[in-house]
Amino acid sequence: MAEFKLPPNSRIKKGKHFAADSRASNVRRFVVYRFDPDSGENPRMDTYEVEMDHCGPMVLDALIKIKNEIDPTLTFRRSCREGICGSCAMNVDGRNTLACTVSSESVNGDVKIYPLPHMGIVKDLVPDLTNFYAQYASIKPWLQTRTPAPPDSVRLQS
Ligand code: FES
Repeated sequence: MAEFKLPPNSRIKKGKHFAADSRASNVRRFVVYRFDPDSGENPRMDTYEVEMDHCGPMVLDALIKIKNEIDPTLTFRRSCREGICGSCAMNVDGRNTLACTVSSESVNGDVKIYPLPHMGIVKDLVPDLTNFYAQYASIKPWLQTRTPAPPDSVRLQS
């Protein structure tokens, strides 16, 4: 049987552990993929213990809390926080999803968070969208006109 392994510089290592305050009672563990290509180090999985009594309900809320209060080096995209823009697309608990639409409570056990699996990684949970935008431009999925725009006014929508 053939055996496949990632090259040594791509294997995910055990990362850092950020423990919650010993007085915290409602704690969830978030295990997050970390990768900084500039460091020359392998990717790693860092574990953050988050006090959920002072955290919003969604996975994105927990990531924001981690970045604001525990580890400011964590990098991810987000914008609307309501499932519209798609910026927070990532892999949560084995599913490609939007972190702002998944509640931490809906995940059993540790909340494992990876970047989208089919793209290069810029840093941590931020995928490289260069190819996505090239494909998007190639299919031109926007309204296109048959006549040129008026030179000195806006085109009115019918
Ligand atoms: S932040 Fe816009 S979809 Fe999640």
